[in-house]
Amino acid sequence: MLRVMVLVSGGGTNLQAIIDAVEAGSVTNVKLVGVLSNNKTVKSLERARNAGIPAVSLSPKDFADRASFNDALLAKVDEFEPDLIVLAGFLVAIPEAMVHKYSNRIINIHPSLIPSFCGVGYYGLKVHEKALERGVKVTGATVHFVNEGMDEGPIIAQKAVAVEEDDTAEVLQRRVMEQAEWILLPKAIDDIANDRIQVVDGKVLKK
Ligand code: GAR
Repeated sequence: MLRVMVLVSGGGTNLQAIIDAVEAGSVTNVKLVGVLSNNKTVKSLERARNAGIPAVSLSPKDFADRASFNDALLAKVDEFEPDLIVLAGFLVAIPEAMVHKYSNRIINIHPSLIPSFCGVGYYGLKVHEKALERGVKVTGATVHFVNEGMDEGPIIAQKAVAVEEDDTAEVLQRRVMEQAEWILLPKAIDDIANDRIQVVDGKVLKK
């Protein structure tokens, strides 16, 4: 059983998709061992507890500086002894020490087709605002391994989603979640848990 820990910042619809997929049996060989949020009040913690998953919060605001928070974050994650860390809308930069310790064992969902609309400053609704501003006709979502760069790690899976003429950022965000994110992220976890993919020379290949 792959021990999976999920890190979140917001509403946790991706977390819910993972919980539902594990409960439905479409994701196998996975135990959800913990959920960590950098935000005390979020719905995600409630989603986790409703599913019987231990849930904790750890906010940078409670630490004197970022280095102390980073140390505490890594220590807290270590306590759960995860085999895989899933960033499901976790909007905090992952400390380099954690990237190294969990090399090729951290994955992230990003709401665009990387390398478009990603990197510093591109998160959540902002990604969709930028896509609409640019007038792209197709957008989507990407699941990738996390390395030292921002949204630069090996790509596991991508799915395209059409942009409609009267889309608002909120409408587009919802469509990208429904048609791409909630499908791609559980599938990537299932592929890893069932040993179907490997990273070779910075690229993800099917076994
Ligand atoms: C999702 O759209 C996810 O792709 C995005 O935050 C949202 C979280 O929603 N992540 C990023 O932008 C990471 N750069 P959720 O809390 O409902 O899952």
